[in-house]
Amino acid sequence: MYYPDEVVEEVLRSNNIVDVVSSYVHLKKQGSNYFGLCPFHNEKTGSFSVSEPKQMFYCFGCGAGGNAATFLMKYENYSFQEALQTLADRAGIKLPEVNYSEEARKREEHRKLLMAVNKETAIYYYKLLRSPKGRKGLAYLVERQLTPETIHAFGLGFADGAGNDLVAHLRSKGFSDDVILEAGVAVFDEKRGIHDKFWNRVMFPIQDLRGQVIGFGGRVMGDAKPKYLNSPETAVFDKSRNLYRLHLAKRSKANEWILCEGYMDVIAMHQAGFTQAVASLGTSFTEGQAALLKRYVTTVCLAYDSDEAGVRASRRGIGILDSAGINAKVINMRPAKDPDEFMKRFGKEAFRERIRDAENSFFFEVRMMEGQYRMDDPAQRTAFHRAIAGKLCAFEDEIERDNYIREVCARYRISEEALRKSVASYRRVGGGNPSYGRAGVTDSSYGKSGGGNPRRQQSVLDGQGDGNIPGDIPGGEQRRRNERKDTAAGRAQRCLLTWIADEPSVLTAVRPYVGAEDFDEGILRKTAEYLFGALESGAGQGCVAAVIGQFADEKEQEAAAGIFQEHLKGITEKRDRERALRDLVYTVKNDAFRRLMQSPEPPSMEEMLRAKRELEKAGQAKFAL
Ligand code: CTP
Ligand code: MN
Repeated sequence: MYYPDEVVEEVLRSNNIVDVVSSYVHLKKQGSNYFGLCPFHNEKTGSFSVSEPKQMFYCFGCGAGGNAATFLMKYENYSFQEALQTLADRAGIKLPEVNYSEEARKREEHRKLLMAVNKETAIYYYKLLRSPKGRKGLAYLVERQLTPETIHAFGLGFADGAGNDLVAHLRSKGFSDDVILEAGVAVFDEKRGIHDKFWNRVMFPIQDLRGQVIGFGGRVMGDAKPKYLNSPETAVFDKSRNLYRLHLAKRSKANEWILCEGYMDVIAMHQAGFTQAVASLGTSFTEGQAALLKRYVTTVCLAYDSDEAGVRASRRGIGILDSAGINAKVINMRPAKDPDEFMKRFGKEAFRERIRDAENSFFFEVRMMEGQYRMDDPAQRTAFHRAIAGKLCAFEDEIERDNYIREVCARYRISEEALRKSVASYRRVGGGNPSYGRAGVTDSSYGKSGGGNPRRQQSVLDGQGDGNIPGDIPGGEQRRRNERKDTAAGRAQRCLLTWIADEPSVLTAVRPYVGAEDFDEGILRKTAEYLFGALESGAGQGCVAAVIGQFADEKEQEAAAGIFQEHLKGITEKRDRERALRDLVYTVKNDAFRRLMQSPEPPSMEEMLRAKRELEKAGQAKFAL
């Protein structure tokens, strides 16, 4: 237990999860639940639900779920303690001293240690850059036209000679070799033992959303390879869920952000006043990063290199942004190679114009496609026009599609009528490609596997329309089910718990027949224990949030939230409900019996007989609801 149960419960009770989530996600009420776009995965239709009575959230698309504290942990990257503290502050409650579970305390401490190593390392490199040993590094940065203010603001540093200086320094601060290695700032090999990872590099500290240093990028002096060296992923450094300078960009007031490829590009942008610039972290742009951007902006301008690799990366980026529901534009950097060079050669006013003239991603892609065809050959021209039609059919919105058809026809002198017919036939054949950017009927260079949105596919497979979330289990649940290798018994257990959570009086009815011990060992049994315990001590439906809060681990909280999504559907008649309840109770009991019989230590005769009697009793149970 982190905090005494009563404290967690009180804090959760004093905050309405709808209000908490509403300050981050636009929610709309539908029935007894609220819905919105999930902030934890990319989507265009709202699969993210918040239940006011149960004080929990759950996403049918990605399975993220939990209580108000879990939400803050996921969204703000808070630890449980920080999340609870935030909620307590919101409600004006003073928290007592922390009382962690052993495991949670260790994990938290470990993270803090890794953060501390990173911080200490950043300070060390920062100081080194400003010492005689850092002269070379400083000269390099100045030569790259960074001002002293910028060098300071970005916390830039320097790692000098190969060796052990950083390791020695960190040891002197009391960090163990294990921790130093795990933080990724040192490496180990048989020949040299533990030694500094970075040397002869200017250092770029990478910070998380809250500005804490979680890793480094280092650029070598001169032309040595590799040009950039980055910290490995660690318990605190998730490269696909952070962006360089995001913690500052989120304070910028710009409606359109700039996505760059490199650290130096972002720095050049910020130095010129474009503080809405971010970059991925030495890896290519990911869906997680797109989801992160989605929280802050609806339009992102790609400011990638103008070479072939940059164009390829832009096209890939467009696909990812588009799937995330972000409007993508492409900034033309030519004749400069990248934003850093552009800024040096042409200055910020010219760049401001380039932002204004940023090309809509559709036309960017059409233009890129154009180069692949020979326009003086009628056959190739036809192929090009078909490719355009293929792209166009990805626009679901008719008005939008129509606007693009008109514009592209005017630009490329295509017959509107012919293009319209072509688009219509594609849409019939392809059933409408789910989203633009991955349409690619003829264009396969997207690096995206065909088939489109998995959610959409699954919901077609299981015969349910997409988007009809309220009250039923849409396609997304199918995915979770597959992941979990579900069994009828598991389903029955979840269904029973959901029912009890929805209608606490059901517990009184079933209690003579089932106990928490009848549930699968692990998360199901624990959830049953907590839920039954809370309800029996007089709590109401709102205790579900506290039940979820009993789990220390975010993943467990998510799993617990997932349990409460197994709603019985379409059964409204009193008698049908009573029969359904008996079936559920029997299924749960029967499975418990099977487990007992198959357990590695065979049960005693008495145990077996007792279990058998209980099972028979459950089979004959009569419920009055
Ligand atoms: N990168 C990397 N490892 C490399 C090369 C590049 O991790 N060997 C990553 C870095 O995050 C870098 C980004 O890719 O910032 C862009 O690479 P590149 O365009 O080569 O870097 P520039 O920003 O142009 O670097 P510089 O101006 O310092 O040459
Ligand atoms: Mn570059």
